[in-house]
Amino acid sequence: MGLLKGKNVDLKLVEKEDLKEWESWLQDPDFRGALEPFPKQVTMADSEKEFLTPLVPGVEFNRYFIQKKDGTRIGIVIHFNSGGSPLRTEIGYILSEKARGQGYATEAASIIVDYLFLSRNLERVQAHTVTENILSQKVLERIGFKKEGELRHAGWLRGRWINYYSWSILRSEWSSPRILKAA
Ligand SMILES: CC(C)(COP(=O)(O)OP(=O)(O)OC[C@H]1O[C@@H](n2cnc3c(N)ncnc32)[C@H](O)[C@@H]1OP(=O)(O)O)[C@@H](O)C(=O)NCCC(=O)NCCS
Repeated sequence: MGLLKGKNVDLKLVEKEDLKEWESWLQDPDFRGALEPFPKQVTMADSEKEFLTPLVPGVEFNRYFIQKKDGTRIGIVIHFNSGGSPLRTEIGYILSEKARGQGYATEAASIIVDYLFLSRNLERVQAHTVTENILSQKVLERIGFKKEGELRHAGWLRGRWINYYSWSILRSEWSSPRILKAA
């Protein structure tokens, strides 16, 4: 039911009945793009099981479609507490290729950061980008994330080790909602 309303896009919480569409996007290597790991192929039965009961107890993993005001779905956003710790709340996003270059990912990321700081007592929100992923880094910079450092050989990307940059935005740097209304 959940809908976080932005200016040009909304974030629609993924429900159990949306899972088939979700998996058809997320398991598509082209949608993920060359700078995202090759997607794991999972059955709908396993996907539903994981949706209902997280693999690691205490780990919160929330999925949203990015949709335009007419309801057209153009991408996805996630947030999760890495390792089950609220101190490591992280975001991620992907846009379909034809929707890129128009600011939609920046707006969607800004909405989810607003939502996390407004709804939880968090000190920071974090993200990781493959060091080569300039477009994703520009999204984070536009909404006020700071680069913290480089994690060497921290991921396996389609047949090779890759380095990640670690990013975060602190509550004091966010200071007030940019898109969602606080009251
Ligand atoms: C990362 C990704 C989401 C970035 O997409 P994007 O289209 O570059 O990002 P946005 O939708 O915010 O659009 C930004 C671009 O639109 C332009 N733009 C136009 N109107 C804008 C607006 N109102 N606000 C912000 N930017 C706007 C910006 O100038 C920018 O273009 P530029 O890079 O030439 O400067 C996309 O490349 C993607 O899905 N990649 C594959 C998956 C991936 O790597 N995910 C991230 C994992 S960490």
